[in-house]
Amino acid sequence: MDLKKLIECAFSARQNSYSPYSHYMVGAAVLCRDGSIITGTNIENASYGATVCAERVAIFTAVASGHKDLVAIAVCGGSSDETDELSDYAYPCGICRQVMREFADPATFTVAVARSVSDYRKYTFEELFPDSFGPDNL
Ligand code: THU
Repeated sequence: MDLKKLIECAFSARQNSYSPYSHYMVGAAVLCRDGSIITGTNIENASYGATVCAERVAIFTAVASGHKDLVAIAVCGGSSDETDELSDYAYPCGICRQVMREFADPATFTVAVARSVSDYRKYTFEELFPDSFGPDNL
């Protein structure tokens, strides 16, 4: 798995962030089982609750394009005055972790959070979201 490429795609998607309220720009890139990469960015709204995170935009776009078996996600986020060297790792929020769970094998799905293309941390989904509730529970 080429995580660096996935992270590059997340950084590229981050440039399209629509975040006029928080000024916090997030990019995400999902690697699908067939090797395709689908990206997303956070899209805010004047009615704040209608905002959608970058991860969910990427995952929903992947699923809407026919990719329901996801292998990995890369995420990067930081203030709009930062570009390719971010000060923090942006961890996916709880709602995004639950959405990932639907389309990920918890033991093998990889989550990479990046401050730059060469500075990232890598986890299995299970490490970030243990004892989760998923499709197999129904
Ligand atoms: N955000 C994401 O895109 N992903 C997350 O996992 C956490 C938060 C976005 C939503 C909002 O546009 C901004 O970051 C501040 O919360």
